[in-house]
Amino acid sequence: MFETLERLPADPILGLSAACAADPNPDKIDLTVGVYKDESGQTPVFNAIQRAQEALTEREVTKAYLPQVGDGNYITGIRELLLGAGHAALAAERVSSVQAPGGCGALRIGAEVIKAANPQAKVWLSQPTWPNHIPLIGSVGLEFKEYRYYDAANHAVDFEGMLEDLAAAQAGDVLLLHGCCHNPCGADLSPEQWQALATLAADKGLLPFIDTAYQGMGVGLEEDAFGIRHFADALPEVLVAASNSKNMGLYRERTGAIVFTGRDRDAAEVFSSQATKAARRIYSMPPAHGAILAGMVLSDSALNGSWREELAAMCERINAVRAMLADKLGAATGEDFSFIRRESGMFSFLGLSPEQVDRLREEFSVYMVGSSRVNVAGVNSGNVDYLASAVAAVL
Ligand SMILES: Cc1ncc(COP(=O)(O)O)c(C=O)c1O
Repeated sequence: MFETLERLPADPILGLSAACAADPNPDKIDLTVGVYKDESGQTPVFNAIQRAQEALTEREVTKAYLPQVGDGNYITGIRELLLGAGHAALAAERVSSVQAPGGCGALRIGAEVIKAANPQAKVWLSQPTWPNHIPLIGSVGLEFKEYRYYDAANHAVDFEGMLEDLAAAQAGDVLLLHGCCHNPCGADLSPEQWQALATLAADKGLLPFIDTAYQGMGVGLEEDAFGIRHFADALPEVLVAASNSKNMGLYRERTGAIVFTGRDRDAAEVFSSQATKAARRIYSMPPAHGAILAGMVLSDSALNGSWREELAAMCERINAVRAMLADKLGAATGEDFSFIRRESGMFSFLGLSPEQVDRLREEFSVYMVGSSRVNVAGVNSGNVDYLASAVAAVL
């Protein structure tokens, strides 16, 4: 049967990372895939997760399925993490959360429920956006529109262009936003811009769908949730796809949730029933291990305190690397890379041409995505000078 099928190309980012792993050059630098790396180049297991795992091994007596909505501690904890424990929507019991296999699973389940509610909805995507948004959301049959977002010349959000483009959005359309640490550009919305967008979404009757995969890695756990919390204050309905892959280091455990703030308790329950039904027809039951660990970290005060400290240290390192990279690139090239300091999270566009990116890879074994998006967490004090001189050589 399958002889009629063609071989598909490898995922461009994962393919580059594999090519870097196979490169014998001892000076090689992998700035491709968006996983956090520490100063020694490792992607560590959080201590809090390690401790939760040890406790779980001691006490786990079954591998029977979780409830369809997921682990109780996790789905309660994640909505409090996103909205803040005292949020009025939580007190009004108009929030529901359904566990999903990572942020990707949450995006897909969210898209399934949107499609069921309004098959005509257009999903407005930032230009550029994370490329995986297209297959994850498009595969349910929803169509896309784009809004301008990143101004490459100024390395900043093109907010005027964004508003101009969104003027064409229709009631019932979906406004997909990055909660923080925009992937791929690192340029985030200011609180004032979030407020203006909430007004626009309310006036036009748009459904905000906020993808948040890096809470706590931009400025801090609370600050990075500003947009979500403000939207949940200002609008009757908000949909959030949350991932704990990065901020708990649970990547391979596929830990995420789709969280819905509705008009009332009944609306929240309807959403939950639709989301679990969508999950049932795709993968049936949620994966347990990562969500149980995340639930322990969110509900146990000692583990929670330890996790928050580790995450804050991670965030601090990312921002220190940003400052170091901006300075070293500036000094080596004589050009202005100060925008790297102003951005948030792990990603930045260096502003190089595809030819320059190719030369970096071929001549210096420095690997980055063709758009010159780099994962700044792949930079450390041991490789930054080599990286800066390689960039200077190709500029
Ligand atoms: C913007 C964005 N959304 C969602 C995700 C989802 O990640 P995961 O499915 O691994 O939790 C990622 C991961 O790279 C991302 O960058």
